[in-house]
Amino acid sequence: MSTGKKEKKLWGGRFSGDTAPLVESYTCSLGFDSRMYAQDIDGSKAHAAMLARQGIISDAEREALHQGLEQVRGEIESGTFDWRQDLEDVHMNIEHRLTEIVGTPGQKLHTGRSRNDQVALDFRLFVAACLEEWAGNLRGLVGVLVQRAGEHQDSLLPGCTHFQPAQPVSLAQHLLAYAQMFRRDHDRVRDALARVRVSPLGAAALAGTTHPLDPGQVAATLGLGGTFANSMDAVSDRDFVLEGVFCGSLVMMHLSRLCEEIIIWANPQFGFVRLPDAYSTGSSIMPQKKNPDVAELMRGKTGRVYGDLVSLLTLMKGLPLAYNRDMQEDKEPFLDTHDTVAPSLAIMAGMLAELGFNRERMRLALKAGFLNATELADYLAAKGVPFRQAHHITGAAVAFAEGRGVGLEDLSLADLQRFSGDIGEEVFAVLDYENAVARRHVPGGTGPASVDRQIETLVAWLSTQP
Ligand code: ARG
Repeated sequence: MSTGKKEKKLWGGRFSGDTAPLVESYTCSLGFDSRMYAQDIDGSKAHAAMLARQGIISDAEREALHQGLEQVRGEIESGTFDWRQDLEDVHMNIEHRLTEIVGTPGQKLHTGRSRNDQVALDFRLFVAACLEEWAGNLRGLVGVLVQRAGEHQDSLLPGCTHFQPAQPVSLAQHLLAYAQMFRRDHDRVRDALARVRVSPLGAAALAGTTHPLDPGQVAATLGLGGTFANSMDAVSDRDFVLEGVFCGSLVMMHLSRLCEEIIIWANPQFGFVRLPDAYSTGSSIMPQKKNPDVAELMRGKTGRVYGDLVSLLTLMKGLPLAYNRDMQEDKEPFLDTHDTVAPSLAIMAGMLAELGFNRERMRLALKAGFLNATELADYLAAKGVPFRQAHHITGAAVAFAEGRGVGLEDLSLADLQRFSGDIGEEVFAVLDYENAVARRHVPGGTGPASVDRQIETLVAWLSTQP
């Protein structure tokens, strides 16, 4: 980035003195908003086309502007563009260079437009592109979860409540719970996109314009869903950024929960998963270590995205209408969120695809926690024993088995009958872990028929997505 040029600012008509150097670097947003150069160029081309169609500039001028803007794009993409700090931001840098290239038509481009509606448009286009990317990544992640669930319909593991062993579930059911979270995230992102894809161009500084603009044309050219309803709202609304970061916060919260499980499962005391080499690291001192750093880092990065959300909410809370320069601070939290959410989703999909599940270790864990106790209580209740009594009887049987260091299924029928005369030989089928899972065929339950239906529904959903 270059500094030190001493020519008049684009807005410098009424100024006679120079900006203080420290103020110039303090107010400059190029360090982050240059990332919106493509959106700025697309927005300006759409504006120029509309100006020509409305008879405000000539077709030749529009053509010159379009060619000039494409030349600017080429210079930026080839790295030859001279970004100038004294020109403040991406918008002024592009307009200035455009005018150097095309002359007078460049000076007409800003007719009926303010940087206030220009920056709002550019940022909306940028946020929309990012949300599209998240939606694609979310679909990819759901696809991997569904695929892994399909492979593990008969792998059983302890389902927990209070992080204590509760009831056996299939690994498929466990993974599909996350598939549901990420599907909701996907739908939430798509829903937010409808509000992001609104063109604010034509609101100008805040009050609209006297030029005969057609905001609908600009929106149509850019493939946006509609135009602003109120010019003051159009230039000062940042809900669309906040919604994006909120969606990102939920995505990270869901990813972080999954990371937490992977970290726990990778601990050799659990040994439920083997981390793929490509997604883990070693220790510089302890040769035996294989650490879940990727999952830990993702869990940690969740905090920074929440921070972005709180920054933005705080940024906006005290602002009177309409545009305030404070709002230049809206970009970095969103960019930080995007730079966290997009790779986190892709990395989680890659890590899950290669995660090795240890079915034997999961199975062994079933035995440790009396996961079939509810089966015994339900069995007695089905035989007419009031459930509270059945619960009590089962608790006593658990304490007895625990004292012997065995599972309920390892007790003899005679031992079990000491707790209730209603217990018969068929109890052993009831205590069987596979049966405990298989009998839960309530829709959405962990039973294989229900899991099949869940997978079918998600596969059908994935196939309808673009
Ligand atoms: N760089 C500014 C931003 O990001 C552009 C808008 C400046 N508008 C103005 N009237 N100073 O918000």
